[in-house]
Amino acid sequence: MTTNKTALVTGVTGQDGSYLAELLLSKNYSVVGLKRRSSTNNNIRVEHILDDPNFTLEEFDLTDPTNVIKTIDHHQPDEFYNLAAQSHVKTSFNQPTTTICINTLGVVNILEAIRNYSSTTKFYQASTSEMFGESYDTDKNGEKYQDEETVMLPQSPYGIAKLASHRMVQIYRESYGLLACSGILFNHESPRRGENFVTRKITKYIGDLLASKTDETLKLGNLSAKRDWGHAKDYVEAMYLMLQQSSQNDYVICTEQTWSVLDFVQRAFSYVGLDYKTYVEIDESLYRPCEVDFLRGKNTKARKELSWQPNTPFDELIADMIDADVKAAAVNV
Ligand code: NAP
Ligand code: GDD
Repeated sequence: MTTNKTALVTGVTGQDGSYLAELLLSKNYSVVGLKRRSSTNNNIRVEHILDDPNFTLEEFDLTDPTNVIKTIDHHQPDEFYNLAAQSHVKTSFNQPTTTICINTLGVVNILEAIRNYSSTTKFYQASTSEMFGESYDTDKNGEKYQDEETVMLPQSPYGIAKLASHRMVQIYRESYGLLACSGILFNHESPRRGENFVTRKITKYIGDLLASKTDETLKLGNLSAKRDWGHAKDYVEAMYLMLQQSSQNDYVICTEQTWSVLDFVQRAFSYVGLDYKTYVEIDESLYRPCEVDFLRGKNTKARKELSWQPNTPFDELIADMIDADVKAAAVNV
């Protein structure tokens, strides 16, 4: 089968990178998955596509400008999706310099390489609802929300690093005509979610509990924070759609519903017929120095201009994650 377009995907070993690579392969792209060198095999999320003739893996680190230039100059890709990041908010408080290096300077390296060596490449940047921080607007019914017009007041080194690169993308688009855009994605989860994010930590614990692989309690931090949680599979569709537009723009991608961490915990345990109170313990060391209390997006622009919509209700997302973790824990007993 002949492929018509080449896409480079950074962060391909991560949650979103693996789903996006699958989506692009299904659309007949030639996909180059870019991953940083690791001393151990961390290809688990892309293992099933390694044999696809249209998929290749290359070593790449976006903090190395020469490496970035050579990769982009060599491939002259039609599309470049930058999903690589230090993506953990709490870690960013302990590693602010690393976070800025990867999440801001790394993005500048890519923008400069595209501008100077491959100016027709379309570029997607993984921006985030964490950039809103403590900020929100209020609609006529008194409901709080964030959209593309909401002021951004980040509350973490991660949010600040991502906001700097978000603005950089806008500046390169406006100043140099780069075909560049950012998706302002709200939290999205899946069975491939990293195990130290709260949803997966909960569902993995439930899988292990049911397989009698743990007799410890589940230690969690702040249960009152609210998030707008969608499914990663739905969200990579939006990334793809953004780069198919005739001109590039930034879009909020979200479900428009908000739930607390406690809501997730309660529903997850009740899905397997258990009461969370028996198993969950609060550990204050898991609280963050500064917290984003409330996130709920409005996706009007994406629905209208991209014809995109979220397809996975909250309870279906939880069920998908628990089913996968229960199955994995049972196999690995
Ligand atoms: P993830 O699972 O943590 O994946 C991040 C990827 O980036 C991993 O493959 C990681 O490689 C790679 N990476 C980190 N530093 C790198 C470097 N210096 N050079 C090359 N690759 C590097 O994150 P995700 O959930 O898929 O998220 C994808 C992107 O969307 C991230 O930029 C994240 O900040 C952003 N985002 C995520 C959400 C969400 O809810 N998931 C919401 C908004 C925005 P290793 O495997 O070696 O660690
Ligand atoms: N990770 C974690 N671990 N979070 C916990 C825990 C715990 O044990 N207990 C409570 N929480 C709370 C956090 O304080 C936060 O309010 C909420 O659960 C969600 O935390 P995470 O799952 O770590 O996600 P996040 O919202 O901080 O960040 C994610 O979403 C952003 C988009 O808003 C990440 O995917 C970021 O990369 C992404 O940009």
